[in-house]
Amino acid sequence: MSKVWIEKLLEEPELYLLRIDDDQIRYFEATWDIPEGITYNAYLMKTDNAVILFDAWKKEYTEEFLEALSSIVDPKEITHIVVHHMEPDHSGALPKVLEVNGYKAKIIGTIFAKRLLEAFFGIKENVHAIEDGEELRIGNRTFKFITVPWLHWPDTMITYLIEDKIIFGCDAGGGYSIPEAIDDSDDKIVEKYLPYVTKYIVTVIGHYHKYIVENLEKIKNMGIVNDVKMILPGHGLIWRKNPQMIFEYYAKVGAGIPTKGKVLVVYDSMYGFVEKSIQIAIDELRKQGFNPVVYKFTDKEAPAVGNILGEVPDSEALIIGASTYEANIHPRIRYTLYELLDKANYEKPVLILGTFGWAGVAGREIETLIKRSKFDHVDTIEVKGQTIPEDEVRIRKGVRKLIQKLRK
Ligand code: FEO
Repeated sequence: MSKVWIEKLLEEPELYLLRIDDDQIRYFEATWDIPEGITYNAYLMKTDNAVILFDAWKKEYTEEFLEALSSIVDPKEITHIVVHHMEPDHSGALPKVLEVNGYKAKIIGTIFAKRLLEAFFGIKENVHAIEDGEELRIGNRTFKFITVPWLHWPDTMITYLIEDKIIFGCDAGGGYSIPEAIDDSDDKIVEKYLPYVTKYIVTVIGHYHKYIVENLEKIKNMGIVNDVKMILPGHGLIWRKNPQMIFEYYAKVGAGIPTKGKVLVVYDSMYGFVEKSIQIAIDELRKQGFNPVVYKFTDKEAPAVGNILGEVPDSEALIIGASTYEANIHPRIRYTLYELLDKANYEKPVLILGTFGWAGVAGREIETLIKRSKFDHVDTIEVKGQTIPEDEVRIRKGVRKLIQKLRK
């Protein structure tokens, strides 16, 4: 049974977190392998004469959501529903909530959210489409609605509760996994959680990563981040010990700020030939004081592509190794590369190591794709069959060339 959390975050105004731990999911967006699971966070606020619901849960947890909601308030009393983002991991339970509510609540969202409410659920009535920066007085509080397009969809907005300095971030500030606490008060829990935040950012929002930087800059320039008291995302931990940190972290991942010395090495090796070349490259990296982080596809293992993508933003450089397979790139690397170029397309140097039996294609094909992307192609080294001493010299030289790019 997925665990439900109902936690009071504030006394005045009364503010609750409603969180469910989805430990049943395997593939987020039917794509990203997340054995670590994910949580869906909604929030409920009671102020003078108003009961405001901020988002909901995924449709399959509708029953649990209504039960959790009803333990705090009669759903008929909800006066407003703020829809930050229409992806169904946050909106799936809304149609049932509205039905139980008797369709009395006013729905607040962007114009895009309004269109999606109709497209997804046929909901047209009682929807207020906000202007960017619009402020609404609800109960005894003032809410400022700020659009953050492409963080994650064009419909997405955040809400700033002015008097209490609280940001409702929805996808912004969220991450995968099921943290064993609700907030960032325990540094160890935060440390364990942050790699899942990176994986979430890259796999879910990575295609739009320049908008992460732009939108966070926009929010920062509004002067609301410096003294924010809480950031309440739609997934994972809430941020109230050090709320600024999570937006700084998001901005860093969005910009691809590297950790000094980290080089991501990804390769396939069907029969050990590519592996030989890679071992030489790894040895040279270590000799030069670098820290290779290695993912390999073999007949014994196949890492989750989402985990590989999560390593890209803070890597200084990449080494990609591939076998030629049916006059193409090995299928596992082909798919990894496809997602890498789509979701984690950063300006980082890349060295390619190809291996072939009778005709070298993989290296050339990868080079073509890398040259069309933001990545910076450094060199392609193709090896025929086993790696001979001359190849070793070329590989070591290639690695030093990659390093020179970083240290010039
Ligand atoms: Fe968590 Fe873009 O939905």
